[in-house]
Amino acid sequence: MFHIAVLPGDGIGPEITREAVKVLKAVGEKRQLELGFSHHLIGGASIDAQGVALSDDLVDTCRRSDAILFGAVGGPKWDHLDLPDRADYALIRLRQELSAYANLRQFRLYAGLEDASAVKNDIVETGIDFIILRELSSGAYYGRPKFREDTPRGRRAVDTIEYYDYQVERLARHGFELARQRRARLTSMSKWNALESSRLWRDVVEEVAQEYPDVDTRHEIVDAGAMNLIQRPAEYDVIIMPNMFGDILGDEAAVLAGSIGMVPSAEISLDGPSLYEPIHGSANDIEDRNVANPIGTILSAALLLRYSLGCPDGAGDIERAVGKVIAEGYRTADIWTSGDQQRVSTTEMGDLVVEML
Ligand code: IPM
Ligand code: MG
Repeated sequence: MFHIAVLPGDGIGPEITREAVKVLKAVGEKRQLELGFSHHLIGGASIDAQGVALSDDLVDTCRRSDAILFGAVGGPKWDHLDLPDRADYALIRLRQELSAYANLRQFRLYAGLEDASAVKNDIVETGIDFIILRELSSGAYYGRPKFREDTPRGRRAVDTIEYYDYQVERLARHGFELARQRRARLTSMSKWNALESSRLWRDVVEEVAQEYPDVDTRHEIVDAGAMNLIQRPAEYDVIIMPNMFGDILGDEAAVLAGSIGMVPSAEISLDGPSLYEPIHGSANDIEDRNVANPIGTILSAALLLRYSLGCPDGAGDIERAVGKVIAEGYRTADIWTSGDQQRVSTTEMGDLVVEML
């Protein structure tokens, strides 16, 4: 029996995770996997109910689970709170509690979604199929010192970009192993022409690359890389980068997949359970309207089966089912582009994926 902790969170989080759980249950039956689910509050929902965005109990529960399915956190209601108490900061703290070191974001353009992308058809038609592996345990998010102070010259705020070689090394190694199972190309993006931490990053990646002579390794400066990624996406296979660059380019790259609602991710832990979530946020403006796209979360459930439950067949089932639903012309509002497509709600999309399974 596998225990999956479900953390719906805020905004559209509950609606999209509901559909992913539905799909997981269907795969469980098909593949004879015993899955147990427990639901827990996190983020703003947790602040409202118990005064904290991330409770110690929840951290314990997550640690004892086999995997975590996460929706989204945050919203205008909690935006006035200071950093560690903010609803969305709960995710940053949970990553730390789980020792999550890599965020794997999988970008694919499903056939039929070419027009949904803001990028020209002749570019997306060259093939979108790459992974961004974002470092998740350090960098600008966690580096110390981190503080605000009043000074004679004005209010001052400090964040620190910090990397140890071992943090870069384990991320790079993960990237090279992934590349080996794919098209054997790894691109490392950093800002070595300006940042000391990026110089270390590049050095360490180069050292690890010596152990993977079969992988074609490239280094790109991240600003130029951000442009190349949109102009020549087919050149990329596995891309590794520091925490904050990965946050930014991860959302940028979502344009290539048709919608940020289509992109799944895995946050891989060092020694505990991993967390799976769509890369989009809580989208409070469309909350409770049954219009959100649940596919990013459903595909995250596929990653959960593949990477945490050792069930790649179940993951493939979900990915194929999503491909069929799209091919047959069903679209949520974010990916709907023409009248010959059938516009469906969040719950209908979940039902369609289950049906295709
Ligand atoms: C993400 C999000 C988070 C991040 C926020 C909610 C803190 O944007 O998962 O990419 O910046 O990591
Ligand atoms: Mg982000």
